[in-house]
Amino acid sequence: MSRHPEGHRDGPGETASDVKPVAPRRIAPVGRIVRPLLVALGLALALPLFGARPTVAHAASGESVETDTRLEFERHGRLVARDDWEQLLARAKATRIRVYEPYEERTVEFSALALADVLDAVYGPGWKEEQELLFTCRDGYQPTVPVARLLEHRAWLAFGRPATETFSIRKHESGEVRTVDLGPYYVVWSNLDDATIRQEGDYGWPYQVVGIDLIDRRARFPKMAPPADASAEVFAGFEAFRIHCSKCHPVNGEGGAIGPELNPAPGSGEYYDPAWLRTWIEEPAKARPKTRMPPLNPNLPDRARVVDEIVAYLTAMSAVPPAGGDAAPGNDAPGGGAGPATGARPGEG
Ligand code: HEC
Repeated sequence: MSRHPEGHRDGPGETASDVKPVAPRRIAPVGRIVRPLLVALGLALALPLFGARPTVAHAASGESVETDTRLEFERHGRLVARDDWEQLLARAKATRIRVYEPYEERTVEFSALALADVLDAVYGPGWKEEQELLFTCRDGYQPTVPVARLLEHRAWLAFGRPATETFSIRKHESGEVRTVDLGPYYVVWSNLDDATIRQEGDYGWPYQVVGIDLIDRRARFPKMAPPADASAEVFAGFEAFRIHCSKCHPVNGEGGAIGPELNPAPGSGEYYDPAWLRTWIEEPAKARPKTRMPPLNPNLPDRARVVDEIVAYLTAMSAVPPAGGDAAPGNDAPGGGAGPATGARPGEG
């Protein structure tokens, strides 16, 4: 990936950290902007500087409607808080930040709260002792990020784009550019001066975030884990799968809901032909030009090895008998060599 065109910056761009939050901009369903409150308070000047309440831009009509801004915080599945935008703003200081946006592939400015500050305020400092953060997104995307990553790098809970009316991005998907809603919240990372985060592309950048849970991975995803006696390669593949794949795909019913179940016939030992799977992971569009699945991060160090490990993990999982009897249904198991069976497909757009 090329360096960001703006050149060096001293920090993540918290230059406007003393900006006062403005009252939420109300947008009627017809797209008419009503902000009498703002004007009355004389805060109109602050609006372009700060951005506004998360809104949803409907790609079809171009109209904006107000978003449900609630964000649920859980700890091991138990509800700790349910905040709307105003409540979140009371927990942490709103800031304008600049990051290299991995979907638009350019530097973008967001209005955001420091995620660590929000977590401090919601959970107390004890969140730092937890293992992972699980994000729940409106569209079924369900990524996890190790807590350690948050302690070493700076993550933000973005809620607006100061420069634009709507909180959305232009994303390359299925060979075309689509407008994608980001609201109510988008987790972004300071990466203009952080080569590690920059190299990891969109890992840990969930949008449409509606929930955050502090989890223990073994307790939360018991059926996704390989058996204890699996090889080191399989375990490495499991780690890689959790970073790159489980946010979209379930294995044995556990994981994201954007792509299909990847262990459709547990215990059968039947699975995707490894050679086909390797090519699919590296370049899905080669097999299906209109696919919504992105290729594995092209900038990943040791990419070929990571692909092999993921293939080893999925192959191993297909041999494991279903645990508890309620694993994913076993229809449409693809035979070796012929590529995947026709499983569930997400609709186009
Ligand atoms: C951003 C979401 C997303 C990510 C990340 C993702 N996939 Fe997918 N994947 C999809 C979608 C959507 C489909 C269905 C694609 C289609 O029908 O064209 C799919 C399809 C597949 C299929 C074919 C399933 C079938 O039976 O048709 C396999 C195998 C697969 N993905 C494996 C992986 C692996 C392994 C990874 C991690 C390296 C991964 N995917 C990462 C969204 C994703």
